[in-house]
Amino acid sequence: MNNIINGFSKLTKEKKIDWLIKNHFNSKNDVKKLLKSYWNSKKNVQKNHDEFAENTISNFYYPLGVAPNFLINNKIFTLPMVTEESSVVAAACKSAKFWFSRGGFKTKVLNTEKVGQIHFLFSGKSTKIKKFFHKNKSKLVNSIYELTKNMNKRGGGLKDLEILNKTNLIKNYYQLKGTFETDNAMGANFINSCLEKLAESFKILIKDDNELDSNEKNIEIIMSILSNYTPNCIVKAKVSCPINKLGPFKNMKEEEFAKKFLIAIKIAKTDEYRAVTHNKGIMNGIDAIAMATGNDFRAIEACVHAYACRSGKYSSLSNAFIKNKNFIFEIELPLSMGTVGGLTKLHPIVNWSLELLNFPDSKSLMEITAVAGLAQNFAAIKSLITSGIQKGHMKMHLLNILKQKGASENQKIKAINFFKKNIVSVSAVEDFLKNS
Ligand code: MEV
Repeated sequence: MNNIINGFSKLTKEKKIDWLIKNHFNSKNDVKKLLKSYWNSKKNVQKNHDEFAENTISNFYYPLGVAPNFLINNKIFTLPMVTEESSVVAAACKSAKFWFSRGGFKTKVLNTEKVGQIHFLFSGKSTKIKKFFHKNKSKLVNSIYELTKNMNKRGGGLKDLEILNKTNLIKNYYQLKGTFETDNAMGANFINSCLEKLAESFKILIKDDNELDSNEKNIEIIMSILSNYTPNCIVKAKVSCPINKLGPFKNMKEEEFAKKFLIAIKIAKTDEYRAVTHNKGIMNGIDAIAMATGNDFRAIEACVHAYACRSGKYSSLSNAFIKNKNFIFEIELPLSMGTVGGLTKLHPIVNWSLELLNFPDSKSLMEITAVAGLAQNFAAIKSLITSGIQKGHMKMHLLNILKQKGASENQKIKAINFFKKNIVSVSAVEDFLKNS
């Protein structure tokens, strides 16, 4: 492959695949056959998926699982979960059942604010740009009326606009910081449209101002974009029960379990290496719901990890403590999620997932998602401090290894039985298959 290809996006899907085969693969037929075998036979379904992104050549399947028995604020839910990691859905199911009989999950959304920023350079005195801003603030806000009027009717819209002097960080650097409410939408498009219009109005108003000199009028807009950091879009989820109701456990008293659990949390609060893995386990649940409901899991991930670092040190998102002989386990995290817009209506499975959840509003979806995170975290810590994680993990992993090695259905049944009492590893499975 020597030359750059121009006009690739304009090629048909078949031609794109032909180009890929010619330039990147040795075996022609297998490649085409594989990609085509993942095309949807219903043309309208395939077209719908093709249009979500550019240069689509096939579909990439991820499993959609469900986790029933989630009691959340006294209502029962079955959660849709999209994940490739074996044992995530099983862990969710176990946690859901465990807490169902102990009062279930309690959740609360604390706030739902989103943020957008216009980053710009101004070389004059800060007092002058501040004065200009305050003099023109209502004109600026009015300039986006057409964009915000529908959102305003739903109680959303631009809630505040401030000017921030950031010249201590970068020479001449200022921000216009907008605070938004976006109702049931995640709001990225809405916020970005508002910001670009605000930036345009800002420039026009500055041009017409009679107190700024020509040098000061020469502001430079660097960029206008929402922030995915939403530390004021917070949800809390919690479970609790008397310590003596935590069991029974095979080799452990309930008090010992609670003590070990609290220490495990303390470790995740103080040690970054553990905190990252601890929070990754939480995100196993959160991303799975975000994917199933068509939410932007990259934005959620970026935000949650920044939040986990808000004290200046990366730490656990969850907390556990004992109060009046009650074991209390809770999580607090930012989740900017939407139940309208984006893929919600366009992707039939996303719409199905939302229906499974009884078409929640964005606050309810934040609550359900936080619960999925807390449930995963509980299941992980429970395994870690009792049997260890590998027992459960490897059971699921066994099925993947058996599939990889081409085991027959009969061999699979025998292997599952054999590895109930034996340690799973790739070589152990290979040996087992050779002798079976
Ligand atoms: C694996 O995907 C997640 C865990 O490592 C989380 C944890 O250690 O808490 C099991």
